[in-house]
Amino acid sequence: MREIPGDILIEVMEDVIEDLHGHVHRVSNLAVNLGSGLDLPSEDLDRLALAGMLHDVGKIHLDPGILGKPGPLSDEELELMRRHPEMGFAMTRNRVDPKIAEAILYHHERYDGRGYPFGLDADNIPIMSRIVLVADAFDAMTSVRAYQPALPTEFAVQEIRNNAGTQFDPQVVDIFLELAEVDRLPLELTA
Ligand SMILES: [Fe+2]
Repeated sequence: MREIPGDILIEVMEDVIEDLHGHVHRVSNLAVNLGSGLDLPSEDLDRLALAGMLHDVGKIHLDPGILGKPGPLSDEELELMRRHPEMGFAMTRNRVDPKIAEAILYHHERYDGRGYPFGLDADNIPIMSRIVLVADAFDAMTSVRAYQPALPTEFAVQEIRNNAGTQFDPQVVDIFLELAEVDRLPLELTA
């Protein structure tokens, strides 16, 4: 695994938000593998490592009752939850490389333009955000969450494949599927 710069913020975030414990390291690792498969330059892989760690840092501002809710969120709760990319951007913009803060801001934008907070689409979404989205989705599905048990890896891989071109950048999905085929997903970390 790539060396990740230590950061107290990451530890605090993992302590405060149970669902993020371990998740941020796995997302970071997978995001770097995807970026490497896309031949991103080494500086961008370093940025991806940190963006993967910090993508959900804005959730620190959310009510723990919303974060740990086992059932579906109400409209009002969903609206609050959907503010976490902008909150994360506000928290990091003066602390990290601008491309990392940008990756955080856009990590819930979808390839088809139906994501949030801005509804950007395709190449208008920074590549690092498109990568973090795939890594985040895979790891969220294969981890135990307040609202779901861990789903089987094969199911998660199929979901990513099925949503290429709608939710996910097809180019990122191609690389993801290559990693899945050779078992280079961080499976040992998803238990
Ligand atoms: Fe998020």
